[in-house]
Amino acid sequence: MEKLTGLKKIKTAVFISGTGSNLKNIIKFSKIKKSPISIDLIVSNTSKAKGLSFANQFKIKKKIFNFTNFKNTEKNILLLLKKEKIKFICLAGFMKILSKDFIKKFDGKIINIHPSLLPKYKGLNTHNRAIKNKDKFAGCTVHHVTAKLDSGKIILQKKIKITANDNPTSLAKKILKQEHKLYPASIIKLFS
Ligand code: GAR
Repeated sequence: MEKLTGLKKIKTAVFISGTGSNLKNIIKFSKIKKSPISIDLIVSNTSKAKGLSFANQFKIKKKIFNFTNFKNTEKNILLLLKKEKIKFICLAGFMKILSKDFIKKFDGKIINIHPSLLPKYKGLNTHNRAIKNKDKFAGCTVHHVTAKLDSGKIILQKKIKITANDNPTSLAKKILKQEHKLYPASIIKLFS
């Protein structure tokens, strides 16, 4: 990953689909001096994403793309990223799977956070699956995005204990708290 030169931060887009708690956390992190990135664009696949409100709150450009025509949509996203001079993408609860061609255009420059200890539980319902399987540990992973779902090189991972009282909701809450530490730490690791 390229090193930071001077005070210039790397123009970054965050892709979301939902609440955007990771988005909010990354925006806050981006404003501190030691952050290598600035958040310059928020992309969502749905106007229903609550996290879009952070665009107004932090005065960041936002754009909603509906993915009915996948190929065209990705083409339009790429055009926007170019126009906005975006060099790095953070997926944060983005629930669409980007195509191989799209990823190739941003090779090594897209990262994702996933709520499991990858390679365990790729895909959806990670907390349910961990509890159903009576796992002792769960966690979250920040990894590079490649054409194979949730399979890119791991940047950082955080492990937590699953207690007897945990259910999928309590576990998700505990893990989300860790995600908010792990994402900024991973970005720092990547650019240092
Ligand atoms: C987070 O738990 C994130 O790890 C997960 O969605 C949630 C988004 O929360 N991502 C995935 O499941 C991706 N496969 P947020 O909108 O509050 O950041």
